[in-house]
This record gives sequence, C-alpha cells and structure tokens, in this order.
Amino acid sequence: MIDKATVQKITDAADIVEVVSDYVHLIKRGRNYVGLCPFHNEKTPSFSVNSVRNFCYCFSCKKGGSPVNFIMEKEGLSYHDALLHLASKYNIKVEEKELTEDERRQLNEREALLLANEWAAQKMEKALRDTEEGRSIGLQYLYQRGVTDEAIKKFRLGYNLDSGHSLAEAAKLEGMDMKSLADVGVLGQSQKMPGSYYDRFRGRVIFPVLNPSGKVVALGGRDLKGSMAKYINSPESSVYKKSNELYGIFQAKSEIAKQDNCFLVEGYMDVIGMWQSGMENVVASSGTALTDGQIAMIHRFTNNITLIYDGDAAGIKASLRGIDMLLAHKMNVKVLLLPDGHDPDSFARENTPEKFREYVERHSTDIIRFKAQVLLKDVGDDPQKRAAAIESVVSSLAHIPDKVKRIVYIQECSRILGVREEVIEAAVEKSRGEVVDRQRRQRHENEIERLNENESNPQPDLTKQLRPSKGGQLAEMYPYYPFERNVVYHCVRYGILDFCDVEYEDGTSETINVAEFVAEEIQEDKIWFTFPAFAKTFNRILDLKEDFSNENVAFNEALENERKMMMKEGYDDIASKDLSMEEIRRAERLLEDRVNEELEKRRFEFARYYVEQKLSSHHDDDVRRTVNEAINEEQPLSNIYIRNNPVSERKMEIDRMRVLVPRGVLEWKNEMLNQMIRAKMQQLNSIIGHSSPEEEQKILMETQALMEKRGHLGKVMGDRTIGKKIK
Ligand code: CTP
Ligand code: MN
Repeated sequence: MIDKATVQKITDAADIVEVVSDYVHLIKRGRNYVGLCPFHNEKTPSFSVNSVRNFCYCFSCKKGGSPVNFIMEKEGLSYHDALLHLASKYNIKVEEKELTEDERRQLNEREALLLANEWAAQKMEKALRDTEEGRSIGLQYLYQRGVTDEAIKKFRLGYNLDSGHSLAEAAKLEGMDMKSLADVGVLGQSQKMPGSYYDRFRGRVIFPVLNPSGKVVALGGRDLKGSMAKYINSPESSVYKKSNELYGIFQAKSEIAKQDNCFLVEGYMDVIGMWQSGMENVVASSGTALTDGQIAMIHRFTNNITLIYDGDAAGIKASLRGIDMLLAHKMNVKVLLLPDGHDPDSFARENTPEKFREYVERHSTDIIRFKAQVLLKDVGDDPQKRAAAIESVVSSLAHIPDKVKRIVYIQECSRILGVREEVIEAAVEKSRGEVVDRQRRQRHENEIERLNENESNPQPDLTKQLRPSKGGQLAEMYPYYPFERNVVYHCVRYGILDFCDVEYEDGTSETINVAEFVAEEIQEDKIWFTFPAFAKTFNRILDLKEDFSNENVAFNEALENERKMMMKEGYDDIASKDLSMEEIRRAERLLEDRVNEELEKRRFEFARYYVEQKLSSHHDDDVRRTVNEAINEEQPLSNIYIRNNPVSERKMEIDRMRVLVPRGVLEWKNEMLNQMIRAKMQQLNSIIGHSSPEEEQKILMETQALMEKRGHLGKVMGDRTIGKKIK
C-alpha cells in the first residue's frame, strides 16, 4: 500500500499534458491541447487534453480521465501500479505502507518468485548472445527459423546452456534464493542427491511469458534435439496461472488498443512470425482453449478478436471451440483459416509481410457465418446431422447479448442454412432465455462466493461493481439507478459550489453547497443513494467541504498576492506610457476590471473543479470510476458563449447548475412517488372484495395522499430553491 500523503504527492505532480505527451503528439488549441487518440485508430484528432482540469478525453471513443486513469488504461496497469509508474516519472520516492504479517508474506513470496523469473530470463538472454554455445546452437536455431535480432530483443528470447548446471551454479554463487528458483521451475531438485539442483530448461531456447505490466511470470523452453517434450513450461505458482496469461500481451497491448483488434494464435513462434510481418496486435493462448480470464484481459484493450488457425480439420474444429464464450463477453469474433498445413509462423516465413497482411484482410470471416457454413458442409442429406447443425448454430446465436446483433445474424443464418427466419428466431429466443438464466445463476453464485470470501477477509472487493443494465436483475435491485446517477454526476460537477443560504429558527444562517442541498432534499423524504458506488462517491463529496474551506483560505491569500503583482505591473505599464490624466484614469479602471475578472475566474474554477481534482484519482475504484465517468459525460458549453467571454461562461454554468440540480432531485423523488403509488394501487386491487371496507378506504386515502404529494412536489421544490428554510 502507498500511504495517503504520497498518493497525494503523485497525483499533484502528475500533469496531464506531460503524461499524455509521452504517448501522443499534442498541439495547443486555445486553452486545450489536441492530438490523435492513443486508444483507437484515427486520422483526425479527437483526443482533447484539458490542462486546467488535468483531464483528457476522446470525443470519439470516450476514453480518458485523470493522469492515473489514463495510465491505467494505456498501460493496462492496476491503480497501484499506475501510481508507481507516475511516481517514477516524477522521481517521487514511494513509501509503501506497513502490511500485515500475512500480506507481507504473500507479497514477499510473489516478489521472490518474480525476482527469480527475472533473474533467470536475464541470464538466459545473455547466454544466447554472450556464449559460444548460445550463439552456435540457440541463436543459430532462431536465425534458421527466420527470427530477427529485433524480435529476439523485443520478446527477450534466450537460451539455457546444455551443461545441466550452469544456472544452478550461477545462482548459488550469486546467493540467489534456490527455493524460489525451484518454485518457478527454473531449477529442479535432484532426486538422487537431495539439496542439489539442476537446470530444468537445459539445452532449450527460452520464451519468457510477460504479464501486461511486463513482469516475467513464466518461461517456455523449446527443445532443439527431438526430445519427447517439444516445450516445457513453468509450473503454476502464485505469479503464474497459465489459464490467465496470454503470451505476447505486454508487447501487443498498445497496438491492440490502437488497431482496436486482437489476433489470437496458438504458439510462441506464431506470435513472433505475425509480429515480424507487421501485425503487432497478436497474442497466443499457448496451445490451450481460451479462458474467461484471457478474454477479459483482451477485453481491456478491444472488443474485436480474430482467431487464426491452420486450415486443416483440427484447426477448423479448434476455431469453433469457445466461440459461445467469446460471444457472451460481447466480443466481435472473426476467424481466419490459413492454407492447409500452415501456422502463422510458417506462413510468415513463406510469404512477404505484404502478402500475409493482404491474406488476413481478405480471408477474415465472421465467426457465426463461418460456423454455419462449416457445419452445413458436413451435413449432406442426413436430416439428423442437419438438425444437430442448426441446433449448434442456434446455441451460438443465443449467446449474443445484443438483440439487434442477434436479429441480423438470425437473418443471415436463415439464408445460409435454408431454414425460415421465424423458425430460427423462435429457437434462438427460447435458448436465449436458458442462457440468461444460466448466466444469472452463475453470477449469483459468484456473488455469494465473493461475499463468503469477504467474510473471512474483511476488505471487501468492490472493484467489480456491476452496472445495472436495463431490464436486468440489478435494475430490480436498484430501481432508482438512473436518477441517482444523474444527481451524483451533478454533484461531481458542481458539488462544492455554493447553492443557497439557509436561515434557521434561532436566527443563524449558513451557506450550503450543492451536495449539501441535495443531501437535505433527499433526506427530507427519507431517501438516500442506494447504488453503493454512488453512495460512496456522494459521501466523499460531502466530506470535502472542510478541506475546501481550509484550502480556499490559502488559495485566496495567494490570489491576493497575485492581485498586488498584477496591479503593480499594470501601474508600471501605464506609468511608462505618455498619457493624459484622463487617459490614465481610464486605463486604471480598465486594469482593475481586467484583474478582478481574471481573479474571479480563477476563484470560480478552483471551486468548480475542486471535486474532480480531489476525487478523479481516488484510490477507491468505485469513487474514481464514478467521478471519471461523470466528467466524461459532461456536455461542453456552447462554443459561441465560451469564446472570449469567460463571464458569460461562468454565468451560464451557474444558471445551468441552478436548474439541473433541483430538477435531478425532483425527478428522483417523483419516480419514488410513482413507484409507491403503483405499489399502493396493486395492494388495493388485491384486497378489494377480500377485506373490510375500512381497510380499503385507508389504502385509498394513502394513495390519494401520495398523489397529492406528487402534485405538490414541483412547487415545494421551487420554493425551497429560493433559499429560505426553517429548521
Ligand atoms: N505447447 C506446450 N507444450 C507442448 C506443446 C505445445 O506448451 N508440449 C504450447 C506452446 O505454447 C506452443 C503452443 O502450445 O507454442 C502451440 O503448439 P505447437 O503448434 O505444437 O508448437 P509451435 O508453437 O508451432 O512450435 P514450433 O513451431 O516450434 O513447432
Ligand atoms: Mn509452429
């Protein structure tokens, strides 16, 4: 854990223009900077960087955020690692917080294993180039397979000498932790001589597997002598879960984001072959079926995936495996079959990069179309086979979450399979129900498992906070979600600005800010934010008031000094000119207006952007995400007003805030009353004729009272916003 003060130091130091400039060539345009978006491919710049607000945003793909957010997305890092990344950029020393005994042990173990892997990878890289054996055997092999020096460096390929003990001896000599090296499978323990170690990868060319942040989590060793095992790999450990890693992701991630597509191949050499042909957005699942964890990793960078297989029967079969899972993850899936007997590595060797890329463009096919075509080809006139093929296609279609997309596919598959559209549609919708049920059960089970885990582990993990989707189960749990979101977003934007004065019965009065106004208004009707991420964010905004007023004092003092400086400079400037008394007086008046205006603007901006400054890099995932989303969604004010007219810009913002905030609260309350009225009506319907007239009368009156309240809502709210209030 990084302590709070250091986090503050890092987020204060991180300048969005500097941070983004490491990845994007920025051009100044007015108060902002623009450039080509690093998250998607584009020719005209839609990526905008706002230096005042320390925030970036792509108008096209909608990605961006605070410096921390930007680094998390761009580098695929966790919050913690993104902070470390920025700390090192700004030379800030990071003091990690005291950990519990248990955490330390786990962390130490992980660190030790990563260290062991890194040490071994470096040794093997060196051995490939700096030893006679490495060059004549390892390097020779790679060259012979067409691997370039550039690729060897990029993928950190290496060689483990064949003597059997070269690494084990070096490790002992350098005082490395032998147990860690054995745990990651670099060394093996001799059966015959306990306590003595040998090199597990001896005589092999080494492919290090890097995780998204570039740490070596495993090694793969390619045999060169025709031994039984073509590859041996690191065993699973606390740093390596084979099914969660993808070979090449570290080297490919930024290109995947940029191309907005990911090629998936089978093996180490295939990744390198594609990379050398100029298709750098490529990863390998290392010979196993794709898992949920791997899909999620790809999903962080793109929604589009192209599976590449050998065009033989086994390749075709493999390509059809796992597609339902990809579809369920809302991935757009294409498949590319290489000519029979080829893998990407061999194809790259026999064709120029241009030919290869052209082949890929021309032969990538949508996976469902592909599946329908392939299955149909096998059918012949066997009706049973035909039914099975249709059923299999239907099952895939049912995994597509998006209805529109499903319908388009149904039309197409109906054509390919020669089955009426309605027939397929009916089957798909029926199967869709089952799929959704299954997924819901699965989610539910995961949720329970998560809760149980939390029971024993007091830190709740809210990183995977789900957003309720329309009609989904979560929408039932959070029926006011859109209303809460609207209001909390307004509070992110305007929360700390003054809203109104409140007078109390004892004669005292107080100015409350926007967030406090919201809090009072909703508490009045005994409501509060139910969606956990919003409740948390809103509480953090309320907490900011005290900090803000303290910092505001210091800020105003600084501004006062600045006023003096600006005035002095202005007076000097006026004095240096040859002006009449009349002209001097006018120039001084203009000067004063200009300075006041400038300071007023800064004061406003300080308050207006205070919430986002404080919370857009907050350590809590829910808070940070909510705040960044709120800023992302913000509609810029009309340019006509903004241009050269900061006064009207401010005025418009305040006017807008005065309308939007009460309206948001009103809509929320109104919805609540609607739902209560609906419930009462239902209750009334269900008891009519089964209950006493008194009971019916009572519920009827309650319903009417609610309706009356709803009628008055707008008026009451209007009164209150004027600002007089009795405690
Ligand atoms: N693999 C493995 N262990 C094996 C065989 C394969 O881990 N015994 C994994 C490797 O990640 C390998 C991938 O499965 O890259 C694909 O296997 P294969 O196609 O047999 O190997 P290639 O990558 O094509 O290797 P080469 O071209 O050197 O034969
Ligand atoms: Mn191969």
